[in-house]
Amino acid sequence: MPIKPLQDRCKPFAQFVRGFKAQGVYPYFRPISRSWGTEVEMNGRRLIMIGSNDYLGLSHDPRVMEAAVKAMQRWGTGPGGSRFLSGNLTLHEALEERLAAFVGKKKAVVHVTGFSTNLGSIACLLTADDVILYDRENHASLFEGCHASKARLIPFAHNDAEAAALKVAAAREKYPGSVMLLITEGVFSMSGDVPPLAELAQLKKEHPNLLIYLDDAHGVGVMGPGGRGTAEYFGLTAEMDFIMGTFSKALASVGGFLAGDDEDVLEYVRHQSKTLIFSAGLPASCGATVLACLDIIEAEPERVERLWEINHKVRAGYHEIGLLCGEAHSPVIPIHIGSELKAGLLAADLLDHGIFALPAIFPAVPRGKALIRTAYMSTHQDSQVDYVLEVLDRLARKHRVLAADLGRDGDYFRTRGVSSLGRTSPDPAVSLVSK
Ligand SMILES: Cc1ncc(COP(=O)(O)O)c(C=O)c1O
Repeated sequence: MPIKPLQDRCKPFAQFVRGFKAQGVYPYFRPISRSWGTEVEMNGRRLIMIGSNDYLGLSHDPRVMEAAVKAMQRWGTGPGGSRFLSGNLTLHEALEERLAAFVGKKKAVVHVTGFSTNLGSIACLLTADDVILYDRENHASLFEGCHASKARLIPFAHNDAEAAALKVAAAREKYPGSVMLLITEGVFSMSGDVPPLAELAQLKKEHPNLLIYLDDAHGVGVMGPGGRGTAEYFGLTAEMDFIMGTFSKALASVGGFLAGDDEDVLEYVRHQSKTLIFSAGLPASCGATVLACLDIIEAEPERVERLWEINHKVRAGYHEIGLLCGEAHSPVIPIHIGSELKAGLLAADLLDHGIFALPAIFPAVPRGKALIRTAYMSTHQDSQVDYVLEVLDRLARKHRVLAADLGRDGDYFRTRGVSSLGRTSPDPAVSLVSK
């Protein structure tokens, strides 16, 4: 039977998933039958959503929805082809111009997802003669781009600028004349950590051939003045050679873009990125959604301010309960737990209490450093947040996940950002998703 070798390969994984489900703590692929933004319906129950990346709640704004419908009426539901051939719309070009201006760069190239932006752009820009230095906790799409480029890959400890400096200096000596690209994230998707961008940008002064690629998937729309992103938050937009963003978070859509100041380099990406050339263009409704979101973000800065107001309230609430959630200025607020089982049990109990939040386990976070990833929207009501805090207060005690319960794990989390994570490689037999 020719499928047998594949069955042998997949069976241990499928058994692992079944075991997870049997424990009643399997938290993934939850089917949502309806959404109102801050609340969703699942199995006939209405739940408060605290795990969405729709940070500004714009996916349900009537103006945004109307823009999507109008674009669909004008251009149809799908683009009918790759942008390279028959699927390039005037809308795509208007969007690229608008995005570049929004993040403070000269030019942008839109892809059909954020994942394909990272994969296609990094893979086409770097070659086997080049060097990529990357934060160990970077997103899977960045890893895929790095691997596809065949460049020499040099990881540095998460958010450790000193370690990065040593690795950059060593790489420069060992591979003189190579293109060197340092890749980090503006807001790390699971932990919510924000990078030491000033220290990383400083490396460009010592190593003029060093380029920086900032994946700001979670920062665009919410971080910095006017939501213009994490680089702007640090006042370092000019120092970033590339700013990547996605539409799937605050911009309430699907799609992604790469922005930069060098027009030739961006033109090259536009023609050489395989995920752009050999993939369908972004549907018009998705592009129009983003343009409508940008209009609202620019006209109503109070939306971004409201998000930070809620996040300050939540973080203060978590601290008061005794949870360990760090201090980062970030739209992602982790509840550090350590044990994967405890994180799964707490998430399941939250669900029983009408709250949708997801655990992040290995390999999305380092092994044994599980957390509940919470993220709020500027459209959440205070009463919803109060309810979540009240439930968490009870459940955190019940599941013994307070900072005081974490022991040595707690020390690890308290020193995050300055310590090395020493990550082990994914074991497909015991991890749900391979990074
Ligand atoms: C840091 C980061 N980069 C890239 C992506 C990919 O974005 P998209 O959802 O648009 O494919 C994500 C999404 O999860 C992300 O968190």
